[in-house]
Amino acid sequence: MAVRFELLKESSECNARLGKLYTPHGVIETPIFMPVGTRATVKAMTPEEVKDLGAQIILSNTYHLYLKPGHKLIEEAGGLHKFMNWDKPILTDSGGFQVFSLGKLRKISEEGVEFRSHIDGSKHFISPEKSIEIQNSLGSDIMMALDECTPYPSDYEYTKESLERTTRWAKRCKEYHKDWDRQALFGIVQGGMYKDLREQSIKEITDLDLPGYAIGGLSVGEPKELYRDMLSFTAPKLPKNKARYLMGVGSPDYLFDAVISGIDMADCVLPTRIARNGTVLTSHGKLVIKNAEYKRDFGKLDPECDCYTCKNYSRAYIRHLFNVDEILAARLATIHNLYFLIKLMENIRTAIKEDRLLEYREQFYKKYGYI
Ligand code: GUN
Ligand code: ZN
Repeated sequence: MAVRFELLKESSECNARLGKLYTPHGVIETPIFMPVGTRATVKAMTPEEVKDLGAQIILSNTYHLYLKPGHKLIEEAGGLHKFMNWDKPILTDSGGFQVFSLGKLRKISEEGVEFRSHIDGSKHFISPEKSIEIQNSLGSDIMMALDECTPYPSDYEYTKESLERTTRWAKRCKEYHKDWDRQALFGIVQGGMYKDLREQSIKEITDLDLPGYAIGGLSVGEPKELYRDMLSFTAPKLPKNKARYLMGVGSPDYLFDAVISGIDMADCVLPTRIARNGTVLTSHGKLVIKNAEYKRDFGKLDPECDCYTCKNYSRAYIRHLFNVDEILAARLATIHNLYFLIKLMENIRTAIKEDRLLEYREQFYKKYGYI
């Protein structure tokens, strides 16, 4: 069954929407946060645990899986779902972003990107066709077109050149892909911090009539105000009847901005990465659990949380695990952080349904400490 987005409701207060995204591996309720499983694992979690947290879809990475263990091996295993034992939807990023952030000595040309592996320095080449070939082998429900995430800051001339190349690459991805019932392809809007270039990119990418569109090149180091401005300018201009995905955003305030601008999907390594460093998200703000003040704190990580970690373990215990470098520390903190964001998005969906998203945000920010 081909991927299809159903718009269920538009907020009366802002651009937020409620929807359903139908995929070959099940239906996703949107807006949604997607945990990241870069190397075919959401770090420290079993797929069953990720499912139990309420995750409806995960993201994985073409770049990493192509390098190790190789997409042909995953194809031999029966595809990524079977290889990692995850039977819900999977979205794969195209490799563009990771080549630029991790690959060494990149050379970008009309044909594609040449780079050296961050693992062993070996030389590789990814073209739009190659990215689709790899993602076809992985069998993800949603593939992303190969793009260049234009660095911040970039001048106008380069940004324009780059977004036009991203459009040409997206066309080649679309032409190369065959089985649209098995896998969808989303295009990526670029254009940096220039509104007319964002408009140009939207026009060119949506002309391809793909089943969904992403906004790339945001949350790349620009000031928060600029992020909010570009996001609220770009997101509402994307087609209403297609899924809108904001790439690489996962802090609560950035997620609120995204949803309020009309975004349906977002992903980020933030909750899982900071968990492993001992930082947890709570309804009263971020907390660095290693700090001495938690030594005798026998309360929950978050008094309002009912995740597995908070039901069973104290701050003092988790602090101890971090201090003696036990792997359970990373597991318990990851469970909590993912649950926190998944629950936040669930609350956001309910608030949109009840037309009280802005009030919910204010209430959340007050407690979290943003205002
Ligand atoms: N992840 C975060 N930002 C981006 C982007 O601009 N492009 C891609 N492909 N992935 C991303
Ligand atoms: Zn918890």
